[in-house]
Amino acid sequence: MNSKYKIAIVVSTVVILGGIGYWIFYTPNLADDEVAYVLAGGVTPQSAVISFNTYQPAKVRVQVSAEAVTFADPRYSDYTETTAEKYNIGKAYLDSLQPNTQYYYRLEINDTIDVFEGYSGTFTTPQDSAFSYKIAFGSCMVTGSNSSIFGHIASENPLLFISTGDLHYENINSNCEANFTQAYYRVFNSSAQAELYRSTAFAYMWDDHDYGNNNSDASSACQQQAITAYRDFVPHYPLAFQEDNDPISQTFSLGRVRFILADLRSQKVKPEYDGCERTKVGTNFGSEAHLKWFQDEMLAAKDSGQVVVWLSGIPYINHEGGPNYDCDEDDDWGGFPEERQAIANFVKEHQIPISIIAGDAHMVAMDDGSNSDYAEGGGAPIPVFHAAPIDRYGSYKGGPYSKGYRSSSGQYGTIEVEDDGGDEICLTWTAKDENGNVVQSNTDQELRYQFCLPVSSDSIPTQTSVSL
Ligand SMILES: [Fe+2]
Repeated sequence: MNSKYKIAIVVSTVVILGGIGYWIFYTPNLADDEVAYVLAGGVTPQSAVISFNTYQPAKVRVQVSAEAVTFADPRYSDYTETTAEKYNIGKAYLDSLQPNTQYYYRLEINDTIDVFEGYSGTFTTPQDSAFSYKIAFGSCMVTGSNSSIFGHIASENPLLFISTGDLHYENINSNCEANFTQAYYRVFNSSAQAELYRSTAFAYMWDDHDYGNNNSDASSACQQQAITAYRDFVPHYPLAFQEDNDPISQTFSLGRVRFILADLRSQKVKPEYDGCERTKVGTNFGSEAHLKWFQDEMLAAKDSGQVVVWLSGIPYINHEGGPNYDCDEDDDWGGFPEERQAIANFVKEHQIPISIIAGDAHMVAMDDGSNSDYAEGGGAPIPVFHAAPIDRYGSYKGGPYSKGYRSSSGQYGTIEVEDDGGDEICLTWTAKDENGNVVQSNTDQELRYQFCLPVSSDSIPTQTSVSL
């Protein structure tokens, strides 16, 4: 056979196999019949949001009950219609729920309830006052990851799972709407991820790769479509800002802990450098209004007797002399020292009881505040907990971290909140590996840390540490 024919046969075979692969990969699993995915978010003591995707346009409502098998005494959301123009996605809003109750939900499609498990899920509403609970969080997974780590996260039985960014790695900067639609489909339709998302409540703040390109900012070509897609596809808490190009920042409370999910990507303006000399100051929040919102939320939390968990996707700890510091940093707080110091000064001035959870860097790492005090003259030592990568290679950024770190693939974090209604709230951080075991740090210590923060606005806000 002459070489031209051989090449033609090889090319045809690749095209045919590729076509079959594409069909298998992107064609809905017909056994699933009508529903691509369903998941719950925005869960409060009284309400929840259910997001779903049908394969065909349909009339949908959600049935919810505190009874798992019988769905006795059910409540229903309003009806909604999914349409091809809107990719057959929809949201249902559940209200008048009871606090501290496990609920089971399932979809009614075109007036019929199917018992197929892919149509259903469960979540537990938080208590509406002080209570103790566990959440899990992590960032960074290959698009549509089907890793068994999601099963281990689910078996933690967390009240909430927070994706702290890089929910996918599509790096979308063209054909925006179609690419975001496909990205969310591949994430939520992944069987291993769906099992987790149908087992508990979901919250999500993006980072760079799932908002735009690597180290993306406000200039991303798909900025507006990213924001629109987030609002349409994700079951989220009420957003703080409503205009088309506004950040997706949001807050919610679980007991006496206020979680502040800050969008540090869609409004970001990077610093500029001439060699090592910074010629333009950057901002992660992007506007005075956005930064003021963050400060107001911190202060409101403190004034109402709460402690703050701030989700800052990017590493907070990085500075000259650190193990990974570059003089022209623009992808973590090391490149934004003015804005970081303004935040630290505010924390110091108002004695905000606060800790940070973070992602982005593909490592688990903890700092007790020894390396994170950026207030002028000191006085804002904020504990920092990184948990990543859920399903991605390891890497190490920022630091140093007083409790150590581990940069391996397959890691996540848990936070146990202990709150008996007294004058402090204690948090226990644990870094877990892909099998759900406690991570050994680079210094061969179990990567766990417990600390307590005061809640009474009249108390002396010192942080007490307990070694485990
Ligand atoms: Fe990442």
